[in-house]
Amino acid sequence: MFCFAPTVYLFEDQYQIMVKTKEECILWVKVGDRCYYDHSGGIMRSDVRVHRVSVPQALLDEAKGYTVCYKKMIERTAYFPKMEDIVEVPFTFRPCMGSGAKFYHVADVHAKTDPAKAAAKFVDRIDCLILNGDVPEDCSTEQGGIDILDFTGEVGKGEIPTLFIRGNHDTRGAFAEHLEEYIPHREGRTYFTARMGDTWMLCLDCGEDKPDDHAAYNGINCFHQFRLDQTAWLREVIAKEDYKAEGIRHRWIIAHHPFSSVLEEPFNIELDIYGEWCDLVKKIEPEVMICGHMHRTGHFLPGGRHDTLGQPCPICIGGRPDYKGKDTFEAATFERVGEDLIFKIINHLGNWKNTAIVGKSEETIIQE
Ligand SMILES: [Fe+2]
Repeated sequence: MFCFAPTVYLFEDQYQIMVKTKEECILWVKVGDRCYYDHSGGIMRSDVRVHRVSVPQALLDEAKGYTVCYKKMIERTAYFPKMEDIVEVPFTFRPCMGSGAKFYHVADVHAKTDPAKAAAKFVDRIDCLILNGDVPEDCSTEQGGIDILDFTGEVGKGEIPTLFIRGNHDTRGAFAEHLEEYIPHREGRTYFTARMGDTWMLCLDCGEDKPDDHAAYNGINCFHQFRLDQTAWLREVIAKEDYKAEGIRHRWIIAHHPFSSVLEEPFNIELDIYGEWCDLVKKIEPEVMICGHMHRTGHFLPGGRHDTLGQPCPICIGGRPDYKGKDTFEAATFERVGEDLIFKIINHLGNWKNTAIVGKSEETIIQE
């Protein structure tokens, strides 16, 4: 009945559990003795592409397991709708508590999910998946969303949290306006904060990489306003100081674009906004900014070659597709050892290389 194992997105203080089903059904999730429903104003949804059930993070972290329940729809009539019997499918869940955890980071898959899945198989234990944008080449069709849940389902198996951050290619094409049905969001807002144990994350969405009036978009985007709204939200987040809550020891920024780096035309956009973002996020004293977009892997330091707007902290770029012809891929892992955060690269053949200690190792572009 399920196309893939569920995806458990972490978004603020909730897990959004996503289940893509092959046939029409109503669906809910049990955590302990509590039930959480996929519904629209009290009406359980059956005519959907993907089911989404939100459950409190603290509850699922404690329960360490959940059950997906569904009833296949035979005929949804106004009275006495006909359905098959309840089916219950249990899943174990391993909450990610920050320190001691191993994070698997992928960016820029660009529709070639197989080598990125292959690289994951060489990581002995994945406690959290960070899917940092540009999963499809574009979202011309629903396949863009399907690729995301296929990947998260296979790597996460419904057992671990996933952080999803949108990339610029995820915003392109006729299906892009529907992509929110497949990704975590709250009323269309795709940027958010999250906490896993002692680590607090600020997940930002830069949208497209060229100006809204670029000919390629022909006036279809309003990302300038989207970024202004995000700036207002970011000011509020910083002012609230949730990142100083008891028990938080590390603060990460996760964004597809390394927005502190000004690129060449036509990608040299939003210098005022991104400059303000750099100033704002410095206040949280981030340990690292984790990015993709550049199709390379590297460890870049404040004041280094990519720092043009006042880089707030070390940047790790952890996604490199097609670096030696087709079907090659480099992903990254992040793991804390003592007080250090270790950044490693793993490729589709299982070769590890070029370990960097975040903020301590020298600046490197990691190449063959
Ligand atoms: Fe990108």
